[in-house]
Amino acid sequence: MKTILITGGAGFIGSHVVRLFVNKYPEYNIVNLDALTYAGNLENLKDIDTKPNYTFVKGDINDGIFVNNLFDKYQFDGVIHLAAESHVDRSISDPMSFIMTNIVGTVNLLNSARNAWKENFEGRRFYHISTDEVYGSLGKTGFFYETTSYDPHSPYSASKASSDHLVRAYHDTYKLPIVITNCSNNYGPNQFPEKLIPLAIHNITNNKPIPIYGKGENIRDWLYVEDHAIAIDLVYHKGKDGETYNIGGHNEWTNISLILQLCKTMDIKLGRAPGESEKLITFVTDRAGHDLRYAIDSTKIQNELGWAPSLQFEEGIEKTVDWYLKHADWLENVSSGAYEKYYEKQYANR
Ligand code: NAD
Ligand code: TYD
Repeated sequence: MKTILITGGAGFIGSHVVRLFVNKYPEYNIVNLDALTYAGNLENLKDIDTKPNYTFVKGDINDGIFVNNLFDKYQFDGVIHLAAESHVDRSISDPMSFIMTNIVGTVNLLNSARNAWKENFEGRRFYHISTDEVYGSLGKTGFFYETTSYDPHSPYSASKASSDHLVRAYHDTYKLPIVITNCSNNYGPNQFPEKLIPLAIHNITNNKPIPIYGKGENIRDWLYVEDHAIAIDLVYHKGKDGETYNIGGHNEWTNISLILQLCKTMDIKLGRAPGESEKLITFVTDRAGHDLRYAIDSTKIQNELGWAPSLQFEEGIEKTVDWYLKHADWLENVSSGAYEKYYEKQYANR
């Protein structure tokens, strides 16, 4: 029986990965290590938390001794590392927590894997989950390839770029068996409502302004979160040692056209007159260092591993809206006092 450590499994993407692995692989022991920061929520995993092949451990990857002890206790065969500080706006107001968790936390895990596995790497894998934001910003044309040079602009993307480099360095220097994926923007159930899509759904539902940075012309490539989880499963099992794979949705939207599409869906779902929700759109001061466009070329993972996104955006958005409307209690629970304070501060002067 293999034991796999998944970090950040109580967060947005991590919870979908944990669920997929626990359900699909009863022969694996899945250990979910999560510090339960504001972004981590065990409610995301209520449906699987009593399964015999699942264990939750609350802990901080910044604590190297704790991480070492965890490796001693569970003798992990593999690591799927998703724990991170993940929100660009928070990285602008508080870069240090990103440096700690995304860089130091990742190196703690690398060191523990190296100590635990010694030189015996057979059947072992350290899988680091990263973002397309490490590549910087595109103009109106072109794509990010696995060979594109790194050019991060926000403290978030710079901290993820740094962790990617360190993971590769442990492969090149110590032969640690690693694999890395860089994925585009995810959307879907369980995403914390500080990110664009759940924030807009939350505000439209509550008749609050939908804040659009700048003119809403920035472009993101959106992927449904369950398609990302399927890609992670494939890469964990079939990806080549030392390789990087880009994962993307082939689904580019300007922020304003995405929000208009979302408003249409919300009007229908909430029984509002057509055009009602879009009256909430409010253009606010742009994000500092705002990357214009992200777009992934995912030919490599498609050709080598046969992965492709399964959902069209319209279908994915509808599923997402349905989930949030059905889980109003989830949204209320995560929108705690602390989040309300963050929101007031973040949008006060925009
Ligand atoms: P998230 O913020 O929703 O979840 C992060 C999780 O990590 C939370 O459960 C949190 O409690 C946990 N965590 C944070 N600091 C920790 C620490 N010090 N020790 C242990 N656990 C800690 O993030 P997400 O959107 O699910 O992203 C997961 C990963 O995927 C990140 O590495 C992110 O960089 C990457 N990624 C995200 C996207 C996206 O669109 N959301 C796209 C590409 C890549
Ligand atoms: P976000 O969901 O924060 O993801 P990322 O910055 O990692 O791409 O933002 C997606 C896009 O939406 C990005 O161009 C910034 C923009 N945005 C807004 O216009 N308003 C908002 O309130 C937020 C949170 C984001």
